Amino acid sequence: MKKLMLIATLGMAALYADPATIIKSKCAACHGQKMEKAALGKSAMVNTMSAQEIEEALKGYKAGTLNKHGLGATMRGQAAALSDTDIADLAKYITTTLK
Ligand code: HEC
Repeated sequence: MKKLMLIATLGMAALYADPATIIKSKCAACHGQKMEKAALGKSAMVNTMSAQEIEEALKGYKAGTLNKHGLGATMRGQAAALSDTDIADLAKYITTTLK
């Protein structure tokens, strides 16, 4: 029984990407470690946005409907693999822990 619980826990840890890891591995190269840079010299500084704005932007890019600065296609590729939970977690993390 204990063994089964351990396997279940490890399985969940592997599936769940925490926002800190996502930012480090997928966002920081363009947006900076603290999401404080204008990505490719174009985007808003994401750490100045509200959680709601971040969430709406990421959902818009994922849906392919948002193109704020002419580089929406770049962000579409970045947002495509994010789940709605990832997006909500990122918005919360950026506006609380990261600040
Ligand atoms: C290849 C560089 C690159 C990477 C990697 C990247 N972004 Fe972006 N991001 C951009 C660019 C360029 C824009 C502006 C797109 C546009 O024209 O609308 C942008 C825009 C945004 C915006 C909206 C900002 C605004 O101007 O309103 C958010 C939020 C955002 N990115 C979050 C993220 C997150 C979270 C990740 C990691 C999952 C990420 N980005 C990864 C380049 C990148």
